[in-house]
Amino acid sequence: MDNATLGPATYFVTDTKRWAVSNVGLFSGRANNVFKSSVVTDFFQTARLSASSLRYYGLGLENGFYNITLQFSEIAILDSTTTSWKNVGRRVFDIYVQGTRVFKDFNIQKEAGGISYRSVQRQVRVQVSENYLDIHLFWTGKGTCCIPEQGTYGPLISAISAIPDFKPTVSNKPPSSDEPPSGNEPTVTDKPPNSKNSRAGLIAGIVGGVGVASILSILVIFYINHRRKRHDDNEELLGIDTKPYTFSYSELKNATDDFILGNKLGEGGFGPVYKGTLDDGRVVAVKQLSVGSHQGKNQFITEIATISSVRHRNLVKLYGCCIEGSKRLIVYEYLENKSLDQTLFGNGVTLSWSTRYDICLGLARGLTYLHEESPLRIVHRDVKASNILLDSELVPKISDFGLAKLYDDKKTHISTRVAGTIGYLAPEYAMRGHLTEKADVFSFGVVALEVVSGRPNSDSSLEGDKIYLLEWAWNLHERNCITELVDPQLSKVNVEEVNRVVGVALLCTQTAPSLRPSMSRVVAMLTGDIEVSTVISRPGYLTEWNFNDVSSLMTDMVTKESGTSNYNLSPSTTTVDSANRSPIDDSEPILHETWYG
Ligand SMILES: Nc1ncnc2c1ncn2[C@@H]1O[C@H](COP(=O)(O)OP(=O)(O)OP(=O)(O)O)[C@@H](O)[C@H]1O
Ligand SMILES: [Mg+2]
Repeated sequence: MDNATLGPATYFVTDTKRWAVSNVGLFSGRANNVFKSSVVTDFFQTARLSASSLRYYGLGLENGFYNITLQFSEIAILDSTTTSWKNVGRRVFDIYVQGTRVFKDFNIQKEAGGISYRSVQRQVRVQVSENYLDIHLFWTGKGTCCIPEQGTYGPLISAISAIPDFKPTVSNKPPSSDEPPSGNEPTVTDKPPNSKNSRAGLIAGIVGGVGVASILSILVIFYINHRRKRHDDNEELLGIDTKPYTFSYSELKNATDDFILGNKLGEGGFGPVYKGTLDDGRVVAVKQLSVGSHQGKNQFITEIATISSVRHRNLVKLYGCCIEGSKRLIVYEYLENKSLDQTLFGNGVTLSWSTRYDICLGLARGLTYLHEESPLRIVHRDVKASNILLDSELVPKISDFGLAKLYDDKKTHISTRVAGTIGYLAPEYAMRGHLTEKADVFSFGVVALEVVSGRPNSDSSLEGDKIYLLEWAWNLHERNCITELVDPQLSKVNVEEVNRVVGVALLCTQTAPSLRPSMSRVVAMLTGDIEVSTVISRPGYLTEWNFNDVSSLMTDMVTKESGTSNYNLSPSTTTVDSANRSPIDDSEPILHETWYG
């Protein structure tokens, strides 16, 4: 078992062993997520523990069937045969392999006949069809939380091995390996308890922590040094791991008929977007970055680097970019049904309930990927209806990572700039620049309510408590008549799903980030795999601020934070930016309107 320290949302890939691990969740009450015990022997002495979601990936596997062995031992909860109260703790979690739940409510101690410190082995035969293996241990909120100690819960695993059920035709050895590759022997780096010699195999097991930690530190140092060395845009582009395809300006000019107005799809904070057709027939959306803004340029580069490295069904594909002189353009796949705000709030088609539900689920899956599964940990920062595009089958795709910024959770969580859109901004991010993935969770909650209600998050043409969607939703929730929120244009809805989506949205928009669920829990709640938690309270920002009086909201925000502000509260689509703000200086107002170009 690797014993690297994993943060509340951490992802890393081991070097030659080709395992990756992703951990999500923060324990209240314990800091460490590696559990040690000297009572047991061999690799059961340490076990990886997670507060919520623990995911292991075997990478670069030859496709075929594999026998997966999962090794467990309950080393935290006392033996049920002891008489102490400490034996009443129960650890319960679910196990998914390749996306299919193979064990529900798995309880290691129970599987070991009520005995702790006894090994439990489970074997699963699965097919690898896309060269990777995905083992997901997921705590669904069951069992006890704090017996014998605070934080004694969550998935726990001691070792994993995967052995091909076929004769591999490729070697698993790294090119520099001294040992000649062997086709017959499976190469497994985990040693099962009684087979010391079975260390070959297609994929490596969980490796020693020291090695992993040093590899990780080298990577971090390399990354920091690398960033320091960057001087200009071109150098920056060369430094990006996944280099985007580069189009020539004339190619894009031809594709868009010289950026003719008739091809203009819209215009956002960065500049206009045009529809075009490339020589190879691909229909594209070309985003022309308005020049003359340094910030715009940096964001452009960040966007390219980020989008190039991530791929998911619910993310917009980046085809490439163009950098010529001062010109900067980004080329995306064109999505026929444009953005969610246009479809939802426009006068065109009415989306059916099942489509709306699928949009919420797709959006949640896309965000889960960005937060917990993608090769880079990404907080979008500007999740909103206009940044969700719909393809020809109305599958939602998240767009615009221009404002997204990768961050390392070993550094401060205080972001140096706040970027986002009023109406969707989480309070802690808007007011303090405190950025975690929970800021996106908040924005997701707002979008979900917009999807259910078919109206924007604020609409001054409506009367009284309906102006602000969140406030209205809470009032309806408290009156137990949440179905009134549903878009009047919908004649048929699935009430259970509506309740689920709204319940999740209310959880996501809680004031305290810690009370908001992670996006993977959001997915699980939306699909009904876990119950939507009902222990939620009306957010403080609604109780304390009178939304009917914008000036009182402003005064409140300002006096709480600083004393003065140039915060511009125009509804719905204002982009805010505080690039020059010191990360630790809370005495300065942080929001002001900024437009590029
Ligand atoms: N890939 C695409 N396919 C189809 N239409 C697109 C695509 N990308 C953008 N658009 C259209 O162009 C419009 C403008 O997009 P843009 O991202 O520039 O602005 P925005 O999302 O409103 O604001 P922001 O700059 O804050 O993201 C969108 O509302 C959408 O209708
Ligand atoms: Mg956009």
